[in-house]
Amino acid sequence: MSRILRIASALAFGALALAGCERGVPVERPPMNSQQTGYRGTGMVQITNPRIVAPVLARQTFPEPLPAVPADGPTARQVYQNVQVLGDLPVAEFTRTMLAITAWIAPAEGCNYCHNPQNLAEDAKYTKVVARRMIEMTQRVNVDYTKHHNGTGVTCWTCHRGNAVPAGVWFTALPNKRSAGLIGDDAGQNIAAATVGWTSLPYDPFTPYLSGKADPDIRVYGPTALPGANRHSIKQAEHTYGLMMHMSGALGVNCTFCHNTNSFASWDGPVQRVNAWYGIRMVGDLNANYMKPLTDKFPASRRGPGGDVAKINCTTCHQGVNKPVNGAKMAKDYPALLKVAMVAAAPADMAPDINGLLAKVLFDTGKATLGPQGEDAVKNAAAVLVKSPAVKVAISGFADKTGKPDANLELAKQRAFAVRDALKSAGVAEARITLKKPEFAIGGVESDARRVEINAAK
Ligand code: HEC
Ligand code: HEC
Ligand code: HEC
Ligand code: HEC
Repeated sequence: MSRILRIASALAFGALALAGCERGVPVERPPMNSQQTGYRGTGMVQITNPRIVAPVLARQTFPEPLPAVPADGPTARQVYQNVQVLGDLPVAEFTRTMLAITAWIAPAEGCNYCHNPQNLAEDAKYTKVVARRMIEMTQRVNVDYTKHHNGTGVTCWTCHRGNAVPAGVWFTALPNKRSAGLIGDDAGQNIAAATVGWTSLPYDPFTPYLSGKADPDIRVYGPTALPGANRHSIKQAEHTYGLMMHMSGALGVNCTFCHNTNSFASWDGPVQRVNAWYGIRMVGDLNANYMKPLTDKFPASRRGPGGDVAKINCTTCHQGVNKPVNGAKMAKDYPALLKVAMVAAAPADMAPDINGLLAKVLFDTGKATLGPQGEDAVKNAAAVLVKSPAVKVAISGFADKTGKPDANLELAKQRAFAVRDALKSAGVAEARITLKKPEFAIGGVESDARRVEINAAK
């Protein structure tokens, strides 16, 4: 066969194979929609199939906000006996919140899903104990992760949608021993799995990247043109791709929704990649500091094969679209969910598993001294650390890229020193503190680049 013929027949086969993809569809197919998101001819385009998108969109409904109530009168703490989180709410707003929560979590079961009707103050049902911590978790998302959701915020509905157990949760996968017993563990690979879009990429990218490690270490590109300096293996890269497949599926988008096609490592692309970067850290924080410490509260029937608690990933909120519940701003109507979240420390009876970002200290341009925001942030972090003496911290200074790189990195170092000294004077022993090499900030908001992060790690 001549070369041309071979190519032609390969193309024809390709066309046949593609035609085979839309099985079971009548001859009249809906046209695909495509939306260009970058320069023409660069592959920056989102392609959606209306037939697949319609049912996903239909799931993004939400209940109307309950009518507003007067904001005066006694507070819930004054009226009731055991209100630990929502005590400052006026009692009418408190009752309104209970009604909303019931509709969001247990519309069929009603108040008794969490309460003993004989004694509403009692904490006997695990669902009430979990719900209390969930209120704090929702506040944390709304107050501390605006860089992820641009201020839209979330309510219990965003994840639960009228169900006690949200539709998208994950458990750590147990090691899958090969039956022959010779090769051993399959490292979570080579089985087509829904979590990674039915590819055979590692099917549990969540445990390494969404469990709340201070540095989830997702990036795999080498920093130099020649190999040698890159310590990431192909196996690690496969985990990264597994996570990326999950993120694409959870949001119903393709890779170029977040990445510039000229380089997957470049931050000069769609801003949504920055939202996603914060999203990864947010999910880690929620899993490590809110879900995991609740493990013992859940009955065995709610836990995974390894006994772990159900955890959050991008699907839990997004459920197939880039803006959960089509971008509805539900949270703004519920003051109970907007209260300034305190530091993420778990209550004492919940075996704190403090991990991840404890505080972010911001600096003015050119300055290495703490301002009021910085002093507050260090004070909060120190309060958590003093209560949890087993927790160690790593301090990382970041600099922005404007100006002279060397001077900026030096400044980042001085800022990290300033934060270390402040922590020491607040009672945290120097032996618990590690200083990391200063780095340039990637993506994010400009003021955020000039920051020092205090990360906890056991
Ligand atoms: C999803 C779980 C959940 C549901 C459903 C729920 N509640 Fe609650 N309720 C809580 C939690 C959690 C608290 C404690 C809040 C806190 O500590 O700040 C609470 C506290 C209360 C209290 C204060 C009791 C006291 O003396 O301390 C009252 C009253 C109350 N709820 C009424 C209701 C009513 C009425 C309904 C149904 C319309 C309802 N709740 C549905 C979780 C729930
Ligand atoms: C970011 C997602 C998310 C948000 C927001 C969220 N939850 Fe949850 N919730 C979860 C996950 C994950 C679980 C664990 C699922 C399970 O029960 O196995 C859970 C479990 C629960 C349970 C236990 C249900 C059961 O039957 O086991 C209750 C009660 C609950 N949440 C109440 C709330 C309340 C009230 C709010 C709002 C104040 C809320 N949640 C907000 C993710 C979320
Ligand atoms: C919702 C946004 C989003 C989508 C969709 C997405 N990515 Fe990513 N990707 C990111 C973010 C954010 C990072 C950096 C993560 C970090 O630094 O923690 C990243 C990192 C990467 C990296 C590592 C780059 C480096 O610097 O080493 C590769 C490779 C990658 N993505 C490939 C893909 C592929 C392939 C797809 C489609 C299957 C995809 N991504 C879809 C947001 C996204
Ligand atoms: C607690 C719920 C929640 C979780 C979990 C969550 N997100 Fe989001 N995300 C939101 C909300 C709310 C918005 C704001 C949407 C809007 O603008 O209305 C958002 C926005 C985004 C955007 C910007 C979308 C746009 O069109 O501008 C990206 C990208 C994104 N999320 C990626 C992720 C990724 C990746 C993960 C998992 C690592 C994740 N999210 C987990 C709630 C969540």
